Amino acid sequence: MAGPAADTNTQQLIDPFGRAISYLRVSVTDRCDFRCVYCMSEHMTFLPKQDLLSLEELDRVCSAFVRQGVRRLRITGGEPLVRKNILWLFRALGRHLERGALDEITLTTNGSQLEKHARDLKSAGVARVNVSIDTLDADKFKTITRWGNLDTVLRGLDAAESAGLKIKINTVALKGINEDELEDLIHFAHGRGADLTFIETMPLGDIGEDRTDQYLPLSIVRARLMDRMTLEESAYRTGGPARYVTVKETGGRLGFITPLTHNFCESCNRVRLTCTGTLYMCLGQEDAADLRKPLRASSDDAALDDAIVDAIARKPKGHDFVIDRRSKTPAVSRHMSVTGG
Ligand code: 5AD
Ligand code: SF4
Repeated sequence: MAGPAADTNTQQLIDPFGRAISYLRVSVTDRCDFRCVYCMSEHMTFLPKQDLLSLEELDRVCSAFVRQGVRRLRITGGEPLVRKNILWLFRALGRHLERGALDEITLTTNGSQLEKHARDLKSAGVARVNVSIDTLDADKFKTITRWGNLDTVLRGLDAAESAGLKIKINTVALKGINEDELEDLIHFAHGRGADLTFIETMPLGDIGEDRTDQYLPLSIVRARLMDRMTLEESAYRTGGPARYVTVKETGGRLGFITPLTHNFCESCNRVRLTCTGTLYMCLGQEDAADLRKPLRASSDDAALDDAIVDAIARKPKGHDFVIDRRSKTPAVSRHMSVTGG
């Protein structure tokens, strides 16, 4: 660890558009035990293990961001809980919660390993988890995730609830696949006291099939739901891209993430670190900064701190991805499992 500076977050990372960067998403592995059709092809090639940052290195980078004013960390993947000994990282980062330098550590997971880890995550200081569930039909779940099992995920959800973790469910809206089920998912999530967020498919990475077949605009979903339920505009914001409504019938919160139909970049407060130490300043752009080099160049964190400041100074104003019907190539070549959702 670095010297005395490590215990005070004095600096604030402000980008060229005046946005304070207070939120870091960290992908701890590009691997996953599922193969969701909108995310990966069935035969994915993963990064060689030696390219990954070690857990200690991940701790060092995250701690550098905390030192520079980041208040929230989200651990993502791939599937973060398939990374060996990942609980060590949660415990290590938990020290920043204890000393008040960090407001929260959250986790995005497919739920497959949650039954095993929910209690330990909670005791490491994790308060909230986002669990991805696109369908409540076991056969469809297999079709969408290829390798996943709905029962296992539902047991994981129960375990998270018993452990006292707050839950948000993420559902990718898929044309012709789960569009008839979205109302059921609202009742399911809200019935358990969980928030629910619908997500549009984003053109990230080659998936071996045509994405225009999967794309279901949430404007349509919303209009359909409004025939059946009362959606009340909500001022609730998490600093993220979701826009929320309250469903009057359930009293629960429903979010919409619409990267293709709505531009949410103005209020962007986040950057993303990959498991190899590459920092992406925008999910929808290719520009990136290599933090692994300064990290490995010295055990002192000065070069790392400088590299972070330089990177934030390059954060672009926003992205502009579209699903191109003619070319069928993804707008951004890296997969969501590399940059983290
Ligand atoms: N478009 C939209 N959502 C995606 N996810 C993964 N890949 C994509 C994509 N290309 C979702 C996962 C998870 C969240 C982190 O991102 O299903 O809910
Ligand atoms: Fe794995 Fe999540 Fe991608 Fe599905 S969407 S394959 S669970 S990383």
